[in-house]
Amino acid sequence: MSLQPETLDAPDRPAGTAAWWRTAVVYQVYPRSFADSTGDGVGDLPGVTARLDHLADLGVDGLWLSPMYVSPMADGGYDVADYRDVDPLFGTLADVDELVARAHERGLRVVLDLVPNHTSDEHAWFRAALAAGPGSPERARYLFRDGRGERGEQPPNDWRSVFGGEAWTRVTEPDGTPGQWYLHLFDSRQPDLDWTSAEVREEFHAVLRYWLDRGVDGFRIDVAHGLAKAEGLPDHGRDHDLLDAGREDAPTHLAPMWDQEGVHEVYRGWRRVADAYGDRVLIAEAWVQPPERLARYLRPDELHLAFAFAFLDTPWRAGDLRAAVTAALATTGAVGAPATWVLSNHDVVRHTTRLALPVDARRPIGIRATDPQPDEALGLRRGRAASLLMLALPGAAYLYQGEELGLPEHTALPDEVRQDPAFFREQGRVAGRDGCRVPLPWEAGAPGLGFSPSGRTWLPQPESFARFAADAQRGVAGSTLELYRAALRLRRELGLGAGRLAWAEGFGADVVAAHVTAPDGAPVLVVANLGPEPVALPPGARVLLASGALDEAGRVPQDVTAWVSVG
Ligand code: GLC
Repeated sequence: MSLQPETLDAPDRPAGTAAWWRTAVVYQVYPRSFADSTGDGVGDLPGVTARLDHLADLGVDGLWLSPMYVSPMADGGYDVADYRDVDPLFGTLADVDELVARAHERGLRVVLDLVPNHTSDEHAWFRAALAAGPGSPERARYLFRDGRGERGEQPPNDWRSVFGGEAWTRVTEPDGTPGQWYLHLFDSRQPDLDWTSAEVREEFHAVLRYWLDRGVDGFRIDVAHGLAKAEGLPDHGRDHDLLDAGREDAPTHLAPMWDQEGVHEVYRGWRRVADAYGDRVLIAEAWVQPPERLARYLRPDELHLAFAFAFLDTPWRAGDLRAAVTAALATTGAVGAPATWVLSNHDVVRHTTRLALPVDARRPIGIRATDPQPDEALGLRRGRAASLLMLALPGAAYLYQGEELGLPEHTALPDEVRQDPAFFREQGRVAGRDGCRVPLPWEAGAPGLGFSPSGRTWLPQPESFARFAADAQRGVAGSTLELYRAALRLRRELGLGAGRLAWAEGFGADVVAAHVTAPDGAPVLVVANLGPEPVALPPGARVLLASGALDEAGRVPQDVTAWVSVG
């Protein structure tokens, strides 16, 4: 895009709706890997509660907890067997109440993760569906179909699982004969629900209320764009991919399983449920392209927020970043919603590693020891610059546990320890997502780096993690932890999340430069230099924070972002 002067506002809010979630920075906790209190090597809820001071001290507004429900853990808990209870691996319902109470005491909101597209194959509904046989009301909650071919031996259509292989599995009927097929857009242990079923819709309203009544502040909605399927489940005609859909060239809604019109009615219903509780939030995980389509989830009577995955997937090039920011702010602004920025989560290669990959490479699903190993120092430098750019942008921002430490991806996990179903279903063609799910390093000198009292960790930590341990960074000037703390404090003080963004002119094609101005504030100049030429700051500028050292002439060097006071 050009460097036209352009002002992109945080959308005007109707009076009285300056809701917390519009500008909040929320920290994603992946409970298996955050902190273990029992010594079994798997993180748990008491572990999270015990470390809440880390989050309060970091300066985030809340946490989003990846699933902690009863689950056989075929997909790390994104396969839910009981939506109203906690898996013993993670604790008890009382532990959730305790976590919520202790978080609220510190002013931290708690957002749960809701998985509505599919259940676990161990959910009581799916068991009943298998037992009840074709044509039963029990099967009507899922997408059971007869197979094609003379004896129904071929899947009902050509859809592929996001994790590899066919999206259909054939069951054996109660009488022992080969029977119908059921749809699973993910693992065969994650059967898709049929969202045209009134019973399914009612059940999820009840689940929402169940947790809202317990005091949680909202939900991140898993695969929010997948619930409605095109009528008749027509063939797709091509492979599809959810986890890298941010870079899809084709609009997602042309695929019969994504971004279908029917999802919007579901979310209108959910919004009514949430609104009855006041200040709660619904956040879409929707890998939808183009951004105009994503904004449709954010119309005033639908969801509050949707991750801007197009920004996460933008190559490290200034023009592309400006275009992605412009598109996200303009499309969400048009429906009165804020943009929701994110660089890392439990599904993608950590951005401190990703940004060291060749700029035009397609984002890989994990990295293996046999792949070219990214340059850790370059990734960290760019990762810090990207984070500081993101945290200056108007809107909400979501952090993934460990990014505040600058943690790299584990790029050399042995295949024997991998657990991601994507690795198995792809028969090792992709590494899978385990490398971003490695247990956190808390104390450099402790066994298991302080993750667990026993020193055990369900995935091995790379040696480099000792250098990144939280206690090795706390209070250390220039550490990534202190950079995040300072950024979050300044962001809050300066009101950047509620600001207006105007691109700044005259900085050259390799620079992302913008003025971000809070409603009652002075403009803050944000300069991210992606090019080799150091960038001089305007006369009189005062540097508030920078992701790396400036040069001897006070200029911003390559792969550094600075926040500058100019007013
Ligand atoms: C979402 C989750 C991912 C999970 C998938 C299936 O993309 O973020 O971890 O595997 O949905 O539930």
